[in-house]
Parts: sequence; structure tokens; C-alpha cells
Amino acid sequence: MKVATLLAAVTGASAKILWAGVAESSGEFGLWSPDATPGTGLPGVFGKDYAFIDESTVDIFVDEHKVNLFRVAFVLERMCPLETGLGATFDEEHFGHFKDAVDYITTTKGAYAILDPHNYMRYNNPSQQPMTGSVIGNTTDETAATTEQFAAFWGELAGRFADNERVMFGIMNEPHDMPTKLVFDNNQAAVDAIRAAGAKNLILVPGGQWSGGHSWTEDWGGDLAPNSEFMAKINDPENNFVLDVHEYLDEDYSGTHTECVNSFPDNLAKLTAWLKENSLKAMITEFGGSNTTACETQLSEALQYMEENEEYIGWTAWAAGPFWGPNSACCTDSRQLGSLEPGSKAADGSPGLYETLWLKVFQPLIPSTLQWEGPARVSGAAAEDA
Ligand SMILES: *[C@@H]1O[C@H](CO)[C@@H](O)[C@H](O)[C@H]1NC(C)=O
Ligand SMILES: *[C@@H]1O[C@H](CO)[C@@H](O)[C@H](O)[C@H]1NC(C)=O
Repeated sequence: MKVATLLAAVTGASAKILWAGVAESSGEFGLWSPDATPGTGLPGVFGKDYAFIDESTVDIFVDEHKVNLFRVAFVLERMCPLETGLGATFDEEHFGHFKDAVDYITTTKGAYAILDPHNYMRYNNPSQQPMTGSVIGNTTDETAATTEQFAAFWGELAGRFADNERVMFGIMNEPHDMPTKLVFDNNQAAVDAIRAAGAKNLILVPGGQWSGGHSWTEDWGGDLAPNSEFMAKINDPENNFVLDVHEYLDEDYSGTHTECVNSFPDNLAKLTAWLKENSLKAMITEFGGSNTTACETQLSEALQYMEENEEYIGWTAWAAGPFWGPNSACCTDSRQLGSLEPGSKAADGSPGLYETLWLKVFQPLIPSTLQWEGPARVSGAAAEDA
């Protein structure tokens, strides 16, 4: 792996995927309330209502499939309990469990981890995520956490992982239905706080409207200006950030249908052009499909497209995680075909998506250029050394 990375740097091959793996959909389990009762599932019991990773399946991904990236989801209301609010005061027991998972991935296995606050830029009521909770920084909602509180949270979290160069900071999962300018302001406040905490780690900057790649340049009307109008203006003194993009292949890009009908290269063409124009890079931290023939073809195309376009330097497929059981993380019309978690079975006991999709489609296309040493930087460790 190291040889391949160095060779790519020496020969000047530009298109290079440095990180690839899976999203661990995990710490956000056990919160759903049918009638949106605030506080449902909080704080929850670690190991019973939710968990972050199963170490033995992380072993399989790293040792057998040679992937080097895990995106680990958590929710803000567990990390920063409602009693003390969003900010620098953490539930230390909860943080300890989260840190154990991140340390296992990075220090024990030598892979890289994205910290993923799975909160849709909302805080105070995750009972019906992604729709409930006050939008962070909404100054006309007196129950909303402020942008300053969000920055305080990120400053604290970043400080705690600043000495781990294998950790990346995903500012927020899928902000939506809020002014694009507020997404930008919250992002910039987080970036400022992270750097002020002395952390040089790679940062993933999300866009509004679910961070969708196909609509990155689209104007949704009103306050929902295109992400492309704002996100290139992020000011990072470390110059170490990428755009965080999600892209599903079903009819409405939601990942809730079985059939893949969208072409990834077509969907991302405008985003790719915008990235190129602004000399920016992106990572696709959510994409996926079902085990249909069309999805297999289109997911292969997606992996190929990222390999061939130097704007893309990493990806995590949605999703593995310890608590899925026979349920599917996406892309099955609620049919229970299992998840990308190794050992996963469908509801009828037949092989789950790990076998019918990951092993079949993803595993053969794991890039050979992944980075295994050095800090996570947009330019890559090898390029830095060269
Ligand atoms: C902000 O809060 C006000 C008052 O609760 C609400 O009407 C508005 O929809 C909120 N804005 C967003 C983007 O959620
Ligand atoms: C997808 O996986 C399920 C569960 O193993 C299986 O029943 C189904 O036949 C598979 N679909 C296709 C198109 O292979």
C-alpha cells in the first residue's frame, strides 16, 4: 500500500482516492418516537440501545478488505446532554465509549475515522430525526442552540482529538431546510473553533439540502441558495478541508427506493466542474444502493468515476453498523435485506447486503492508492513528503 502511494506521488498521477470504507451508522440508534416525544431514547444505554462499532467487523474491513476509513455517527444530545446544552460540557461516560471506538479504528487498526455528529444541523429533539429539533443558529427560535454554542462544542471535541492525525472532523450530517447562509455561518464557526483549539485535522464541510451532490449548484428558492454560492468561501488557515457530499441513485436521491435510476457521473458533473473551478476536493460520505443489477452497475460506475476524477479523494458507503440486524440502512423500499455489516443476513435468513453488495461490487473496486501513514491532509501525506 505504501509503495503504491509513493509511486503515485512520484509519477504525478493526480486522480487518487486516499481513503475508502464504510459509514458506521451506530451512535444515533434508539431515539425514534412515533409521536415525536422530546427526550425519547436519551441518554440511552450504551451497548443496548446503541453502540458505535463492533471491533470484530472493523477487523474484517481493515484486515481482509484493506479499507482505511470509517465514519462514526453520534448524536449531539447524547454527547452534550439537554440539561447542560450544546457546548463544551460533555457526558464523559458517553464520550469515553465514543473515544474507545475512534481509538480502536485509528490507533489499534491504523485506519482513519470521521467524527460524524448525525444531527442535520439541529439540536434539542432528535425524536424524529431528521425532521425534529431546533435549527442551530436560528435566532428567532429561543429554544435553539446558537452558532456560538455549536462552535464551543467543536472547539472542545477538536481539542480532544487534535493529537490524533488519523481523525477527521465531519462538521455536520446533512443540514437541510435552513438558509444556506446559516449552514455556511455554522460551518465557518466550527472551522474557526477547530483551528483555535490547535487541531490541524482534515475537516469535512457539508452543504445545505442534505449535502446532495446532484443539487450542489441548484437554487431551491428563498433562503435556500445554492451551496456553490457559499461553500468555496470557507476560510481555513490550515487549508485542510474537503466538501462533504452525499449522493444516492434512486429516483428522488433519498436512498429510500430499491431501484437505481440515476447516473452518478451525470448527477455529479456540475459539482465536479465547480470543485475544479475552485481547486477544491470532496469526499462522498454517503452513497449506496440495493442488490439489483442496475444498482450494481451504477455503483461500479460511481466508484470508477471517483477514481477517475481527482476532485474526489475519499468515500464511505452507507452503511455498516452493529445494530442493523436484518434491517437495511438504505435503498430497499424498507425491505429487510440486511446491511453492509459483515455477517449481516436478510430477514429471510439469506445473505445480507454485505455479501450481496459489498463483497460483489465494492470489495473488488477498493482503490489501491489508500493512505496508511501520516496525517489526513487534502494533499495526502505522500504528496506532502514528496
Ligand atoms: C426558526 O424559528 C422560527 C420560530 O420558531 C420558525 O418559525 C422558523 O421556521 C425557524 N427556521 C428554521 C430554518 O427552522
Ligand atoms: C437481494 O438479496 C436478497 C436477500 O439475500 C435476495 O433475496 C434477493 O434475491 C437479492 N436480489 C437480487 C436481485 O439478487
